[in-house]
Amino acid sequence: MTSPSPDARRPVVIVDDVHVEYKVFATGKRPTAADRRSLNLRGRGKQMRTVHALKGVSFTAYENDSIGVIGTNGSGKSTLMRAIVGLTSTSRGAIYAQSRPSLLGVGAALMKDLSGDRNIILGGLAMGFTMEEIEENYDDIVSFAGLEKFIDLPMRAYSSGMTARLKFAIASVKTHEILIVDEALAVGDRTFRQRSEARIREIRDNAGTVFLVSHSMKSIKDTCSRVIWLDQGTLVMDGDPDEVIAAYNKAQDK
Ligand SMILES: Nc1ncnc2c1ncn2[C@@H]1O[C@H](COP(=O)(O)OP(=O)(O)OP(=O)(O)O)[C@@H](O)[C@H]1O
Ligand SMILES: [Mg+2]
Repeated sequence: MTSPSPDARRPVVIVDDVHVEYKVFATGKRPTAADRRSLNLRGRGKQMRTVHALKGVSFTAYENDSIGVIGTNGSGKSTLMRAIVGLTSTSRGAIYAQSRPSLLGVGAALMKDLSGDRNIILGGLAMGFTMEEIEENYDDIVSFAGLEKFIDLPMRAYSSGMTARLKFAIASVKTHEILIVDEALAVGDRTFRQRSEARIREIRDNAGTVFLVSHSMKSIKDTCSRVIWLDQGTLVMDGDPDEVIAAYNKAQDK
């Protein structure tokens, strides 16, 4: 047995038969070569299409779980994370969470025209910190991000890796009970990845629950105690990281 018995620990997130459907307008046909040449940029679709992104996903996350979420592009990983945070509504099924999950993703609200320095304050306030708390954590954030020399520059002058470092550094000073990281580490270099992975393990060890969406099987193996594999909106496998990753890799090789 790899997973503990269901009643041994406190359930933190319960995902019960969740379906998500996106409604989008499309033309309903593949453009012909003539369509493409006509370069009709106004061509908005008139036909409503439904994308069934999650098709009945169920699982329970417990405290101290760090769950890797894997699957090919478009398999529904980000949709599931957004549904857990409440950013995307479910069309069927329900999600119960012990406390409000925080999504640490590429979309975190920082302002590109402001300096890194100002953004630390902005991000801190957005997380509900007081100015004193931000001040207490300021040096930690800057050194964790490794941006000492760049902190006075506007964020638009940062590389994508530097931006990701700052976002992760800001978000991770807070004690999250449920933290969701969707591909935020992907652009970081090795030093930063290792540092953030250590931080994720720390959160998990402090009775937190972490979801890590990643295409890096190494990051997943290094940080996760359990892995969920999604494919075309369906949960294919949920269990021990080595077993699930092996099965996933085998399916990719086919
Ligand atoms: N806002 C949206 N409107 C319409 N369809 C969407 C929207 N967001 C996602 N989808 C569709 O839902 C499905 C699942 O997408 P999702 O972003 O959850 O995949 P993912 O597993 O996170 O992929 P990736 O590995 O590329 O990040 C895809 O078919 C995608 O086209
Ligand atoms: Mg995604």
